[in-house]
Amino acid sequence: MARTSEPMNEVAVWPALAQYWHPVAYAHEVTDKPVPLTLLGEEIIVCRLGKEVQAFADLCVHRGTPLSLGWIEGEEIICAYHGWAYNREGKCTRIPSIPAEHPIPKRACLTRYPARERYGIVWVCLSDEPRAPVPEYPAYEDANYHIVLRDRGLWKCSAARGIENFIDLGHFSWIHESILGTRDLPLTPEMHIERRGEELRFYCDCVPDRIHPVAHRRNYRLARPFSIYNWKEQEGADRQEVLVFLCTPHTEKECTWFFLIARNYDPDADKGEGEGQENLYKLILEQDQAIVERQRPEALPLDLREELHVKGPDAIALEYRRFLAELGVDVA
Ligand code: FES
Ligand code: FE
Repeated sequence: MARTSEPMNEVAVWPALAQYWHPVAYAHEVTDKPVPLTLLGEEIIVCRLGKEVQAFADLCVHRGTPLSLGWIEGEEIICAYHGWAYNREGKCTRIPSIPAEHPIPKRACLTRYPARERYGIVWVCLSDEPRAPVPEYPAYEDANYHIVLRDRGLWKCSAARGIENFIDLGHFSWIHESILGTRDLPLTPEMHIERRGEELRFYCDCVPDRIHPVAHRRNYRLARPFSIYNWKEQEGADRQEVLVFLCTPHTEKECTWFFLIARNYDPDADKGEGEGQENLYKLILEQDQAIVERQRPEALPLDLREELHVKGPDAIALEYRRFLAELGVDVA
């Protein structure tokens, strides 16, 4: 990667991030119309042609019209400008303005990207050779769990700032005062961190406090680049709640978060301590949004000399920044 005098930030690793699967929509949102979005600065569409989801560059090869202005007919997508039809491979099958017996140029093909569905989410990779599979969320494929919440929202911040906020425990007592922590107990628990291939795995043991009166362990699996799988363990308790928080990197200044909650117990059963947070998550995420949208610079600095870090509370953030920065080192 070319060196510049600018400090390295998350945008410098976009070429590598293009080789990961990113969540782009919930599967139920991709129905009979092309869905446009920006992924790592690329304008793309996702659509359902037949049963399968497909992803293409949002650009008709004829005259550069966005395909998102078009529509779906059967298993083909139709461009709004001159009605060219493209099949699920992205190949043009019909040009209405020429006689049917005339050949269709071989190059009349859309740029197509790998797309797939898993956990009720549509994932897209901008490269034909993904560096890693879609992250593993075991509870979301376990029949003992049911998903009680699927939500999403747009934040005017970078995806890495959004993810780093989720794993930052030091802010719980401050912006989430009385929900996730209290200001009279601002110390953060010690984090135990381990790298496992494409994942950062970490946990901390939390002592009882006013908000969580029972000792518990918080476990996290952060799959590079923008995926978090998080659950709490309580000794003797087999009730489990598993959260997934994901960010889609649209641009340096905009991301979509996806937030899911799954439980292995009846959602209508008596709620135990610390549960039932699906009622509070909107408020918590609004509190986060008020901060992350104002952080500057927008792109997360990956040069550790930028910004200040304190030993202990910032350990995960430091490891996360290193984890992303490595992608800038080994990409040609
Ligand atoms: Fe798409 Fe002409 S620009 S068919
Ligand atoms: Fe927060």
